[in-house]
Amino acid sequence: MSRFVVNGGKRLCGEVEVQGAKNSALPILSATVLTRGENILYNCPKLSDVDASLRILRYLGCDAKEQNGAVLVNCDGLCENEIPDCLMREMRSSIVFLGAILSRTGSAKLSFPGGCELGPRPIDLHLKALRKMGAKISERHGVLQCRAENGLKGAKINLSFPSVGATENIILAAVLADGTTTIINAAREPEICDLCDFLNCAGAKIYGAGEGVIVIDGVTELNAVSHNIIPDRIVAATLMSAAAVTKGDITLSGVIQNHLSSVIPVFEETGCQVNVKDGNMKFSAPERLNPMPLVRTMPYPGFPTDAQAPLMAVASICNGTSVFVENIFENRFKHVGELTRLGADIQVQSKVAVVNGVKSLYGACVEAQDLRGAAALITAALIAEGKTEISGIEFLERGYENFEIVLSSLGAEVRKV
Ligand code: UD1
Repeated sequence: MSRFVVNGGKRLCGEVEVQGAKNSALPILSATVLTRGENILYNCPKLSDVDASLRILRYLGCDAKEQNGAVLVNCDGLCENEIPDCLMREMRSSIVFLGAILSRTGSAKLSFPGGCELGPRPIDLHLKALRKMGAKISERHGVLQCRAENGLKGAKINLSFPSVGATENIILAAVLADGTTTIINAAREPEICDLCDFLNCAGAKIYGAGEGVIVIDGVTELNAVSHNIIPDRIVAATLMSAAAVTKGDITLSGVIQNHLSSVIPVFEETGCQVNVKDGNMKFSAPERLNPMPLVRTMPYPGFPTDAQAPLMAVASICNGTSVFVENIFENRFKHVGELTRLGADIQVQSKVAVVNGVKSLYGACVEAQDLRGAAALITAALIAEGKTEISGIEFLERGYENFEIVLSSLGAEVRKV
């Protein structure tokens, strides 16, 4: 188990490139199952979740490796249609392999992903949609057994909530299905668009990605492609948070401004200056931050649930009160107790957190309990007086590539021990 030791109070300055998006890389790695030949993925972040996906691909019989900074995946040799429990448990998003494996082999057996650190994460919308496409699914003893021996059929699917994972699974099941699939109330996240760009480049016919209605005309085969994964908007928001708390002045390269359209105004309201030009974001923070406007997490293009925790660390030292409403996950305030140990003043009632900004935070031993919560604790530690030790770094490493090196290159004093 590794820990981060942070000596707070160092102003962040300098330039870093934003890593590739985890939430694009994982569904795209699942999508390779549907292709013939060798795919080359550039800008694929080095993360434990990506590693888990590569191990699933290898277990299925695919050739998946890293070479010269790219990830190469060839699924011609796929010979398994089952993901063992130990691999499913490593990563909740392994459920996006379901649509792809079912489509490729006509059956799939996966253990039920169950709950996770964010609370219950049901997959009823995924299963309902696959059933509508002709899959027979049984759920027994925590195992999902799915069959579509005669292939999947296009269908009209109305999602009651624009679930990211369900939209991805339906797209993966539909691209090689017989006929046309229409997803109504589809998720509009940039990572959905990236998945569709990958698949369209491979020969799929997907229309409307990024909009509420996606139409997919099934094709008979997909070929391998080279693809550049989009930059990670949540890592960008975390680095902006780190610069904000330290009164920093940083440049982030490889940023797509539109992907941050709900995040940038929150920082601007606190008095930070944000300028994006040609994919470079210049970000500078004032001496004292104003409180944030009401932050309500929503499906894209609303404020992302994944950015809630790091921004709450910023709010904890703003000059006034900020309010957060978490609308996506039940259990996404686990960082609050630990931020309080660092001196933050935060009250939580159900899905609302009221953050009364304090003048300063102080170092303490804290424990991360989920990925974005870990990012929040590190952000707070960067400004806490003295030394902060953060355990639970394995959560951070699911989504942030070499984060201690990235922060150190900007002048932070962070060591991994
Ligand atoms: C969610 C986020 C996504 C983020 C990811 C990782 C949203 C809308 N989605 O995606 O941006 O990158 O977490 O942290 O913010 N739900 C059901 N039944 C289902 C599927 C989902 O009830 O079958 C519910 C979930 O319990 C949750 C909500 O829908 O309350 C959002 O779920 P979903 O978008 O599927 O989550 P992820 O795909 O994990």
